[in-house]
Amino acid sequence: MAVQPSSPKCWNATPPSLTLIKMPTTTETFSDFLSLLDREGELSKISAPVDPKLEIAAIADRVGKSPAPHPHNELDRSPAASLGGKALLFQNVTGSDIPVAINTFGSYWRINQALGTKSLSELAERVQALVKPEIPTTLMEKMKKLPDLLKLGTFPPKSVRTGICQQVILEGDKADLNRLPLIQCWPFDGDLDSGQVFDPATCSKITERGSGRYITFGGVFTKNPETGDRNIGMYRVQQFAPRKCAMHWHIHHDGARHFRLYQKRNEKMPLAIVLGGESVLPYAATAPLPPGIEELLFAGFLNGRGIDLVPCRTIPLEVPANAEIVIEGYVDPQEKLMEGPFGDHTGFYSLADYFPAFYITAITHRKNPIYPTTIVGKAPMEDYFLGKATERIFLPLLRTLVPDILDYSLPIFGVFHNCVFVKIHKEYPYHARRVMHAIWGAGQMSLSKFIIVVDDHVNVHDEQDVLFHLFSNCDPQRDTEIVHGPVDILDHASPDLAAGSKMGFDATVKWPGEGKVRPWPKELEMDQKTKDLVKRRWTEYGL
Ligand SMILES: Cc1cc2nc3c(=O)[nH]c(=O)nc-3n(C[C@H](O)[C@H](O)[C@H](O)COP(=O)(O)O)c2cc1C
Repeated sequence: MAVQPSSPKCWNATPPSLTLIKMPTTTETFSDFLSLLDREGELSKISAPVDPKLEIAAIADRVGKSPAPHPHNELDRSPAASLGGKALLFQNVTGSDIPVAINTFGSYWRINQALGTKSLSELAERVQALVKPEIPTTLMEKMKKLPDLLKLGTFPPKSVRTGICQQVILEGDKADLNRLPLIQCWPFDGDLDSGQVFDPATCSKITERGSGRYITFGGVFTKNPETGDRNIGMYRVQQFAPRKCAMHWHIHHDGARHFRLYQKRNEKMPLAIVLGGESVLPYAATAPLPPGIEELLFAGFLNGRGIDLVPCRTIPLEVPANAEIVIEGYVDPQEKLMEGPFGDHTGFYSLADYFPAFYITAITHRKNPIYPTTIVGKAPMEDYFLGKATERIFLPLLRTLVPDILDYSLPIFGVFHNCVFVKIHKEYPYHARRVMHAIWGAGQMSLSKFIIVVDDHVNVHDEQDVLFHLFSNCDPQRDTEIVHGPVDILDHASPDLAAGSKMGFDATVKWPGEGKVRPWPKELEMDQKTKDLVKRRWTEYGL
């Protein structure tokens, strides 16, 4: 097999033909990304021996909740915004000769580096430009538009014949998951006797039990058997045996949708789990793109260059040539395993339930690979920053569905699906209600359990400001809206799995036509003239 060496090159070098483009600083491989973090004082290397069972997770949890080395420059006003600690590289992991990297995306600065942007808002502007291309009129405007047009042409992935991800190829019995340093995150992960089971009655009948070890930071590559559309989703994978796992994809996600199509055809589903690769890939796997819009195209856009793909060795799929590790195999359309419980990003164990079985046919990796992983749990964790990236980057896309949204925020305590703050410029009675219902119909945002809508002078990134207006502007009976529908499958409070109620609060100033409204008082604010006077004379006061 021809071996293609890894290039340590970063994409901040400007190719001569694209001199007008300010290239992002994404990196080509995960190892290159770690080198960049190391150079910037954002990586701690740990040579002491550590146990992949719980110990790595406990260290990452503690470090992730400590101050981040670089200050953040985002809109986020929560105390979590300046946390994240350093990324960690464990070089001596018990039971494996492969080092483990964790918390690599776990701060605003690091996620910005991975996505090649100075700030998430700047990246959102690039997305905005794609969503709403304005017709340039003058030559100067055309020139300004050129970089974006050029970049559009570079999005598609490119098929190549070889890649570093196949420098070492392990097939058949050699494709043993025990060679990889899969971690256990929380004490009761995989423990069916802990009582964390969706249907306790079935528990006693379970003969095949999984381990507490999980792949937690892999991009799961699948293909729609009817259209050929590719999907990448980040789904956790529980190890059951050296070559057998359970796939935990939520029923609302595209991996599960692809699986249902294979089930209908009673065909085995080819699937690859990709670890590492271009620094944009882990984020792209988590991005809630609508079905049919390929994450690989989006990754190319973020990367400023299409992703190189190589054919898998044992399945009819292509995977990123620059990945550290690729796990190939098939999902059985008939067989299900009792997956979980698992300490989840909600801060609770998600209950064990049946999920499809995945059989490994090959593990390929580069020479001297690094194994990327993550833990989720009570926020802030690494996934907080991945979620915040989605919040910013998807604002322009969300606005194509619900243009009334000026801005929104997914506050840290809402663990993403539980709470959304939305800002609108109110134009007519019940405008806030219309926005709530539109959100409940918009992709993954439809799972939002509580929505709080505020007027345009409120800062949705400041929870004090939002809650002040919620509690003061709402009459509980008049200003709440309750609907029923699909909810996040991780919501343990919903009466049924994935089905329950959702609530909206109209915290805007009330207008006639929205129920009996008495004269509405003005909100307190000092007039500008007095503020200017005080500012001018401040030193005179001796304060
Ligand atoms: C660290 C992390 C772990 C995740 N684990 C899962 C998971 O186990 N199952 C799942 O369905 N979604 C999980 N998600 C969310 C999905 O990756 C995300 O919703 C993505 O948009 C799904 O992609 P899809 O719509 O293409 O399926 C996880 C997200 C993150 C950041």
